[in-house]
Amino acid sequence: MRTILITGASGGLAQEMVKLLPDDVLILIGRDAKKLHMLYTHHDKKAIFELDIRGEAQVKQVLTQIYQEYGFVDILVNNAGYAIYDDFENFSAAQVEDMFAVNTFATMTFCRLVGKEMKAARKGHIINIVSMSGLVASAKSSVYSATKFAAIGFSNTIRLELASYGVAVTTVNPGPIATGFFDQADPDGTYLKGVKAFVLQPDVVAKRIVKAMKTKKRELNMPFALAATHKFYTLFPGMSDYLARTLFNFK
Ligand SMILES: NC(=O)c1ccc[n+]([C@@H]2O[C@H](COP(=O)([O-])OP(=O)(O)OC[C@H]3O[C@@H](n4cnc5c(N)ncnc54)[C@H](OP(=O)(O)O)[C@@H]3O)[C@@H](O)[C@H]2O)c1
Repeated sequence: MRTILITGASGGLAQEMVKLLPDDVLILIGRDAKKLHMLYTHHDKKAIFELDIRGEAQVKQVLTQIYQEYGFVDILVNNAGYAIYDDFENFSAAQVEDMFAVNTFATMTFCRLVGKEMKAARKGHIINIVSMSGLVASAKSSVYSATKFAAIGFSNTIRLELASYGVAVTTVNPGPIATGFFDQADPDGTYLKGVKAFVLQPDVVAKRIVKAMKTKKRELNMPFALAATHKFYTLFPGMSDYLARTLFNFK
């Protein structure tokens, strides 16, 4: 039986992952324990922790408790994250810092603290839920893209550092997923309408992530059309910028 820690556990993607992990011990971390208890009454082998993942001291304290009670975390899923789509000039410094704190720095903290234990045990798997926005730029996602590009760079590096200790690192880079994510990112629904053709269902994404828990695949990029866009972006950045500003500017 595996012990799997998931942050952002109340989210749409996390809910679908949990459905596919009935036999595992799940450590579910979120901002609202009551909500998590309500969502996951059906899962027997779970522990719920209410935690603000932005503070290293609190994260350390909760992880100490987790290691005392469960001994080891086999799989860490850094899933918490959010976006606000807007022109860059409209962001305050506090908004920029907060998005980095949740999307990037908290991921780094969990990877550092849990990764150290995995390295010592010479086993484990870290799965960072990042985004296509961390591979391809698009208008109005400057801050979100920056947090996710950083998370991919970080993940690619720790993968190299941990590989010889038997610890795998997977980055998951989905395009738009039909979850509550867009309530905050895109409240008027304009972007979601524009990218309708690429929208993924959360159960489909969750299935691929859960499969990767066995295969320990390096990277999951989806859907195929956006994964191909990323390849095009890498080969033809100038042309890609032109298309992103004109034909494919959905925000
Ligand atoms: N939906 C998409 O289109 C999409 C596309 C690509 C990548 N992603 C990434 O996939 C992951 C899961 O997203 P989702 O689609 O499941 O979205 P979601 O339903 O909004 O869930 C995201 C979860 O992250 C946590 N979170 C959000 N804002 C936070 C904040 N300010 N501080 C701390 N935690 C916060 C929340 O969990 P708690 O309330 O339990 O703390 C929330 O339930 C995120 O990392 C997101 O960036 C999403």
